[in-house]
Amino acid sequence: MPNYYERWVYPLLSRLDPETAHDWIVSATEFTSRLPFSQQTAALLWRKRASSILGSHVLGLNFENPIGLAAGFDKEGRLLRFLPQLGFGFIEVGAVTLKPQPGHPKPRLFRIPEYEALINRMGFNSEGVEKVSKRLSRLKYHSVPIGINLGLNAEIPAEEAPSRYAEIFKILEPYGDYFAVNVSSPNTTGLRDLQERRHLERILISLQAENPRKKPILIKISPDLEEKNIEALCEIALKLASGLIATNTTLQRPGLPPEAPQRRGGLSGAPLRFISTQIIAKIYRMTQGQIPIIGVGGVFSGADAFEKIRAGASLIQIYTALVYRGPGIVSEILSDLEDLLKSNGFDSLSAAVGSGA
Ligand SMILES: Cc1cc2nc3c(=O)[nH]c(=O)nc-3n(C[C@H](O)[C@H](O)[C@H](O)COP(=O)(O)O)c2cc1C
Repeated sequence: MPNYYERWVYPLLSRLDPETAHDWIVSATEFTSRLPFSQQTAALLWRKRASSILGSHVLGLNFENPIGLAAGFDKEGRLLRFLPQLGFGFIEVGAVTLKPQPGHPKPRLFRIPEYEALINRMGFNSEGVEKVSKRLSRLKYHSVPIGINLGLNAEIPAEEAPSRYAEIFKILEPYGDYFAVNVSSPNTTGLRDLQERRHLERILISLQAENPRKKPILIKISPDLEEKNIEALCEIALKLASGLIATNTTLQRPGLPPEAPQRRGGLSGAPLRFISTQIIAKIYRMTQGQIPIIGVGGVFSGADAFEKIRAGASLIQIYTALVYRGPGIVSEILSDLEDLLKSNGFDSLSAAVGSGA
């Protein structure tokens, strides 16, 4: 049954250009969250009471629940006080690049509502690390773990990637609970080549050299990798990283008929669900469950989240579902996930991780 967001809010937002709608929502939310009692009201409306079965300890961090916000929604860390009130168990800020950059020309974000999908070619629009780190430094307390997604400015040669990532990590290190090396956005030329062994090893070695407090560093991967590349990536991750995030958007167009709008860019949402779950299952099998996986791609329901958890994900992220289903989606997923865990005989979330792999 459509909720109030699907019935009233989405039809209004869908009249606006998707990026304008997004920017408007972020600005309005940032403004509203400064008003007295706004966060308490949001929590009353949307936040589900904590349930111990949904809690877990992953990456050395405590998560009240496994549903996080994926990178790209709050690129600049403007909503970190508000988003936990929607019930998110963690938030990933970014991607943040070293220097400010505008990204690709607009329009660069497209809806395909019939398929609950988005196509984007944002190209890392970023305020740059200086501004974002200043904003994060003002956040004295955060109620859920915060991840920071590290991006690369356009036209950086592969040889410079290790020092660039290290430089940005050094500045942001005090403010994140974990970090994601984004080598999988399809919208920055050459970025996905950095998933190759020769580049990725150098990037991670240079990041770890700047990581005396051993903060978890994860690799965010593409769903378009071949089997042998995934194997190499798993080997590298086991040696040099704390986890993997699977997956970013895809250049494939699974399940979309030829008459669907043809746009250049990365596809997210429902059509990505199966591909990303397959990648999670492969990683889980290849690493024998020895490395935490954050599963992301097309999660719209508790059943979708449960499927990824059974494939091997310890944590889940969403983005496109928030656009189509609105802020109530987080507690809806959490309630259904709790029911599914119980009805399938699991007494904890971690017991379900990889149980279907
Ligand atoms: C508009 C938009 C911007 C995104 N920006 C980033 C980004 O900066 N860094 C990143 O790692 N992923 C980015 N993503 C990918 C998401 O984090 C996520 O991996 C992907 O959308 C699949 O999840 P979903 O199907 O739940 O949306 C972006 C996605 C969208 C739709």
